[in-house]
Formats: sequence, structure tokens, C-alpha cells
Amino acid sequence: MDIALAKANEMVQPKLDDQRRSGLPGWTYFSEEILELEKENLFRRCWQLIGHVSDIPLPGDYTTFDVAGERALAVRGKDGGIRCFHNVCRHRGSRVVANAQGNCKSAIVCPFHGWAYNLDGTLRGAPAPRSLPKLEPEKHGLIPLEQEIFHGFIFVRFKPGPQPSVAAMLNIYEPLFIVHKTTEIKPICTMWEAEIPANWKAVRDVDNEGYHVPIAHPGLYDLYGRQYVDELPGRGVGRSVGRFDAVKSKRWSVRHYKTIRPRPSRELGDEANNWTYVGMFPNTVFMLYPEMAGYYQEWPLGVGRTVQRGKMYGHPDERRSMRLARYLAQRIERETAREDHQLIVWSCEAMKSSAFAGIILSDHETGVREYHDQLRELMPVFDQEREPAPGTVAKLNEDLKNATAG
Ligand code: FES
Repeated sequence: MDIALAKANEMVQPKLDDQRRSGLPGWTYFSEEILELEKENLFRRCWQLIGHVSDIPLPGDYTTFDVAGERALAVRGKDGGIRCFHNVCRHRGSRVVANAQGNCKSAIVCPFHGWAYNLDGTLRGAPAPRSLPKLEPEKHGLIPLEQEIFHGFIFVRFKPGPQPSVAAMLNIYEPLFIVHKTTEIKPICTMWEAEIPANWKAVRDVDNEGYHVPIAHPGLYDLYGRQYVDELPGRGVGRSVGRFDAVKSKRWSVRHYKTIRPRPSRELGDEANNWTYVGMFPNTVFMLYPEMAGYYQEWPLGVGRTVQRGKMYGHPDERRSMRLARYLAQRIERETAREDHQLIVWSCEAMKSSAFAGIILSDHETGVREYHDQLRELMPVFDQEREPAPGTVAKLNEDLKNATAG
């Protein structure tokens, strides 16, 4: 199939005008009050990716996701459907499943006192029922979450929010998910997870631009040289593409990856020769590679603590060359992530330095500014150059919002 998108070699790097070359004020990276606003406006009210349908292939299989004080659970029902709930027992709020992933057989039994729920979330029963008021299966069942499955990827939203459906947001990039057949992929590795001692926005700031790639990521530079382009069509999504360089690579992992990778199906077309990243506001990045696809995401554990995690999936293919290509690609990725983690910490801690006087963005960092503008739109208090008085951030943000709306 033809991809109805600009091909990688037709993509044009967006440019910044000189009024938009600065970043967010430094205080917003260290403020507990800002973090509370972010939890509410971003992590509870925007779509959160919690896994792929192939993570839970059998009835009773479940996967969980915790963010911003919320706990989500996705479970495969007896009818094959996937349903998402708050991982919160209706009795006294325990997690109803304790592990990150597993199988709960035919019922979800709370580990605290044993209230049991059917896989469709309805309450099946509770121990010592005569000690309790009358319980109703629907009324006292698990509380469902708003959910959406987009080409195999499961999203939830904890509260209603400003974003349209996932399908509407990713509509422009849907041809990529179709051509990579992401509904059919299966896990090829376990989830990786890393804690980074920095504010979560510093993670996004590094990830939202390719200007640093030639210097900071020798592996990626060896893979696609300067042929890395960002595309920012707006509406909370964007695409970055690195086209494989024809030059012979110096690093053995990249050199072998380029030579050994099996030629993928013709359907991939232009996609067969690049690594594509599709970003979705606020914290999801899909990785679409010729031999596999997956995602990574990050969220705050505190003002200066961030978790980043990711997982890769592929189509069934046990050829030795395919296994080796996937191993090498993941090796390059891991190396890149380690390099980024150091840059994230350095750039975040610099904002507390007496020498810090703001940032100066290049045209190759337009993605950073676009992302900051989206934050400003949702939370106008981000425009305040000086930190507001303690205890006033939320109120000021509301006032600024109302002033804009009025
Ligand atoms: Fe779940 Fe008591 S909290 S059974």
C-alpha cells in the first residue's frame, strides 16, 4: 500500500521565528505545585498508553499501569474483549491485582479480603455476605475507565480531557500503523524501565529534538547521519524520521544491523529504510522500525524523579537474521537511552545554576518549543517568568485560563 504521507526524503524541517527560541521558565521544573497541575491536566486527563492487546492474549490475562496516583487495569474477558478499570477494590480500595501483569483465571479476587469480580468487572461476591449490606453486581463492580484501542495499542483516560479520541489524534499517521500491521505484532521482549533523577519535562525536552543526535548519539549518527527530520503537523502529534545512511558505518552494531537486517515486505516501501518515531502529547512515543514496532513513555514519580519505560513487538519471524537485527536495533536503542539519561540530568540541574539564563533553541529544536506551547495552552501559568508566591500557582493558573477564555 502507498503511504499517504510525505515520504521521509520529502519531509521539511519546521523553522522557528526568533520570538520563539526560549524555553519554559526554570522554576516550572522544580515546583511541587506545577507537578500537581501536570498530574491533573496531563496525566489524568490525557490519553495514557497502558500496553498492547498482545500483552494479554488469553481470558483472565491482565496488565496494569500506575500514574499520578491513579491505577489502571486492563483485562481480557471470556468473550475475548478487553476492558479497562480502575485497579481499586470497591470494599476498601486495595489493588484488586497485585502484579504488573499476570492471569487471574476466571475471576479477579482482591488480595485484601477476597471480594471477587468477574472479568467484565461486575461483582461476583464477597466473603461473609451477611456481614455486609446488600451488594449489587453492577453497582458495586469495578469502576470502568474510558478506553480506546488504536491499531493494537490500549489507551485509557482517567478523567475527561481536552484531547479528542486517539484515532482522531493519530489519524494523520494511521497509514504508518496500517503498513506496520501493528494490530498483529507480538511481544519480542519484556518491558524495560528506568528511573531518571530529573523532572519529567527534561526527559521530553531532550526527546523532542534531533539537533543533539549527531553529537550525543554516535550509534544513531552512524545509522542515519544527518538524515533525521522532524515533522510537526500540530494537534498534539508529530513524526521524526531517521533515514538509513548509505555511508559505511564505523560502529560494529550499526554496521552489522545495516547489512544483516532482512529485507522486509515490499508493503513497507519507504518505511523499510528508516526508523520512524510518532509522538503523541503528552508522553507517548511509538517506534516503527522495519523489523519491529513498540513504544516508550515517561511519567513523574516526583518533581525530580521520572520513570521511563518501553517495549518492542514484532511479527512472527524466527529467521536468525531477523533475531540478530532485532537484537542489534535494541542494543543501539539502549545505548541511545543511556546517553539521553545523562543529558536529561545535566540540562535539568543546570536550571538551578546561578549561571542559567534560559535556553536558545535552534531550528532543529522546534519540537521543544511546540511542546512547551502545548503546555502553556493547557496551563497558562507556565508563562510566568518568576515563580508565583507559595500556594498561589493553581489559583493563578485558573485566573489566567479564565482571562484567556473571557
Ligand atoms: Fe478488597 Fe477488602 S479491600 S476485599
